[in-house]
Amino acid sequence: LKKILQLVAQQICSFPNFPIPGALFRDILILGKTQTPSDRPSIRLLASHLKSTYSGKIDYIAGLDSRGFLFGPSLAQELGVGCVLTWKHRKLLGPTVSASYALVYGKAELEIQNCALEPRRRVVIVDDLLATGGTICKACELLYQLQAEVGVCVSLVELISLKGREKQYE
Ligand code: PRP
Ligand code: MG
Repeated sequence: LKKILQLVAQQICSFPNFPIPGALFRDILILGKTQTPSDRPSIRLLASHLKSTYSGKIDYIAGLDSRGFLFGPSLAQELGVGCVLTWKHRKLLGPTVSASYALVYGKAELEIQNCALEPRRRVVIVDDLLATGGTICKACELLYQLQAEVGVCVSLVELISLKGREKQYE
């Protein structure tokens, strides 16, 4: 795991004053640059870590719109489990569960189709970055509404000063 995190840390780009003045935006998009999913070393290493830890114990990986989409589907494929995607901005058709939440720089809304997974499935949530924890908590809330069992949330990067790890699911 240490090797994965070192690799990820080397690849992160930092952009000052985005999305608000004074902020330093940590961008992981470069991890997917010009490589096929199976060639991305950090994603492959993360997949093998998740595989050795959760193989046979989970049914779905949940990827969060939008940067979580870089990891969710390829991790699910590597682990041989299903993939459920949470979306923003009302892009989904048919019955959904949805909720709005606060980000550091404003508001957003997450949504999942009711038919995205069956009840009582075991889910690991994967996202690129943990800041305040609002996004992951909201994804948990929606998955619980669909009767999922969310045991673990994985973020590649943690902004420790924002204490997202301490955020309680409401
Ligand atoms: C970013 C990041 C995480 C979230 C973390 O997503 O990708 O999903 O913020 O913040 P939090 O812990 O305070 O909720 P964002 O919605 O900004 O943009 P994205 O669409 O690029 O993923
Ligand atoms: Mg995001």
